[in-house]
Amino acid sequence: MDEYILKQLKERFDAAHLEKRIKRQQQHQAFQFRGGFHVYWENMHFLVPLLQFLLKTTRFLRRGFINSINFEIVENDVAISHLPPAFDGFTILHLSDLHIDGMFDCGRALVNKVSQLNYDVCVITGDFRFLTYGQTHESFAYTKRLVNTLKLKAPVYGILGNHDFIEMVPELESTGMKMLVNEAIPLQRDESTIGLAGVDDEHFYESADLLKAMNDINTCDIKILLAHSQELIKSAEAAGISLYLCGHTHGGQVCLPGGIAMIKNTPHKPFSSFIAGPWQYKTLQGYTSRGAGTSGLCVRFNCRPEITLHRLKKSS
Ligand SMILES: [Fe+2]
Repeated sequence: MDEYILKQLKERFDAAHLEKRIKRQQQHQAFQFRGGFHVYWENMHFLVPLLQFLLKTTRFLRRGFINSINFEIVENDVAISHLPPAFDGFTILHLSDLHIDGMFDCGRALVNKVSQLNYDVCVITGDFRFLTYGQTHESFAYTKRLVNTLKLKAPVYGILGNHDFIEMVPELESTGMKMLVNEAIPLQRDESTIGLAGVDDEHFYESADLLKAMNDINTCDIKILLAHSQELIKSAEAAGISLYLCGHTHGGQVCLPGGIAMIKNTPHKPFSSFIAGPWQYKTLQGYTSRGAGTSGLCVRFNCRPEITLHRLKKSS
């Protein structure tokens, strides 16, 4: 890692977190370059050429590419009983799983779509890079173009996913996006405040620290959590989070007709059904985005890429 970047990370993150994250990244990267087998779907690279060949021979490949940028704008109303009136109608633009260097148009269609939307804040719930290791310059360049458009309307906040290394944080922030890595910020309107917290990746790197992330927002009227995957649902509910926004599943990405996912990429029950869209766990409301990008192979079938507008409503 570049010495200057390491110095920046050491100034910002506590030593134990940084050491654990970097060590696990190094283990993961070494494993990938050895070409080893891994149980995670994202790492089953040996399947990609096979799938590509099968799709080509059946002429489905071109259709899958086109599907991968056929974005659906999804509007999701979130009713919260204790929502401060100042935030009634507050709109969150939610993007997830960009994997933007894997988009065959380098993210241009996505930029065009989001430029037509109105929102009060934008959040990106991780996975900026296509692969889980290797170069990042293309994902930075395309993310920068996207954030340049997004920040014209509202502030942009992001978190790391399991495809993102922690050394990507300074450059991602150089785009004008604020990364929340076990950190939080208050969103103020009149006398009311929403606490927006973001955690580091738990799925690969087991580096999420929810309590630390919530330290600065404990007195906020409501709390929203950005988490890449679903591993923290139980602890978020126990911690009094009102809304949990995540991605990671890609909604299955390649589904049977009717959107039936063949690969779910979710934890075991009771969360295995939370693969896409709104869900509820006890007092916690949540939403799993199907994501904007793809991983493995740049195709989608029966599962459109998603751009979500969450609108907060005060319920009676
Ligand atoms: Fe992803």
